Amino acid sequence: MSLAEKPVETLTVEEAAQELARLAAEIAGHDKRYYADDAPTVSDAEYDALRIRNAEIEARFPELVRADSPSQKVGTAPSGTFGKVVHAVPMLSLDNTFSDEDVTDFVASVRRFLALPPDSELVFTAEPKIDGLSMSLRYENRRLVTAATRGDGATGENVTANIRTIEEIPETLPKDAPDVVEVRGEVYMRRDDFFALQKRLAETGQSIANPRNGAAGSLRQKDPEVTRTRRLRFFAYAWGEVSEPLGTTQYDVVKRFGDWGFPINDRMVRCRSVEEILAHYHAIEAERAEIPYDIDGVVYKVDRLDLQERLGFRSRSPRWATAHKFAAEKAMTVLNGIDIQVGRTGAMTPV
Ligand code: IVH
Repeated sequence: MSLAEKPVETLTVEEAAQELARLAAEIAGHDKRYYADDAPTVSDAEYDALRIRNAEIEARFPELVRADSPSQKVGTAPSGTFGKVVHAVPMLSLDNTFSDEDVTDFVASVRRFLALPPDSELVFTAEPKIDGLSMSLRYENRRLVTAATRGDGATGENVTANIRTIEEIPETLPKDAPDVVEVRGEVYMRRDDFFALQKRLAETGQSIANPRNGAAGSLRQKDPEVTRTRRLRFFAYAWGEVSEPLGTTQYDVVKRFGDWGFPINDRMVRCRSVEEILAHYHAIEAERAEIPYDIDGVVYKVDRLDLQERLGFRSRSPRWATAHKFAAEKAMTVLNGIDIQVGRTGAMTPV
């Protein structure tokens, strides 16, 4: 029997320490593939089993809890803590483009697919790509009933109680909203709120890498009152199931979300050519450092919803949209020193 299969009750101290080290590394790898890459390699059940084993070993050997244990991280609470929500309309991803040339190709492919004459009008929206977590907010009879994360796109996690603590998300919608509407968008944390949280957590030896992790960890708190203290925010930019059409263009529907009380991004514009699209991209890129939240690109969407419908979807992304990513931000810094933390087992971690 391999160590990984040995029942927790039969582990020696040495074996338990070895297993906790393995589990920390393995779970961190799965977290990265799930949260950062959106490409998990194990089922939720297999992942949950690893976390449960980690928790059981820690319960038996509390003195062995590692600083880098999955149980100590805010960015990655257990999946399995929250109920599952099957999305009425799948939550898809976006195709990426990286260069001006890719954008020209994207616009050309849309025109080709729609068989549009070269000089005919084709309008796109362009708006920042927010570096947070996508969220689906389901309203029935104009009341918020469910808030769900994207998960694997088909099934997400029910985080309704935590979402209700975000002040800028309306609990009720006005009379003109349809009976059923799923408003989708991004939950994110502003950089100043992230730095404040990072500082607070450091006092208890916890760390978070970036605002996206901060938002993810804050949303996955078991206690909504903890989430409330985290100052999460939201931008509405898409929708799922609706009981009646919301409008005829992307731009107008998002503006309508604004009228209903949702925060919408004020850097969303309409563009009528590749040149206008690229001008907006470079303008946003130039402002990036001054924008108080992290963005990692600009999203372009075909504005007319009838054309979106004709374009439809590939397996995991719409043909009518693309994310034009920024190059990774680079900066120089002076390293003033490195502290070594000595753990309970004597393991030394540079911080
Ligand atoms: S539209 C059907 N607009 O990017 C596609 N997504 O890489 C609907 N994201 O899962 C998504 N800002 O979490 C859209 N302005 C924006 C966005 C945005 C961030 C995220 C979203 C999505 C991911 C795809």
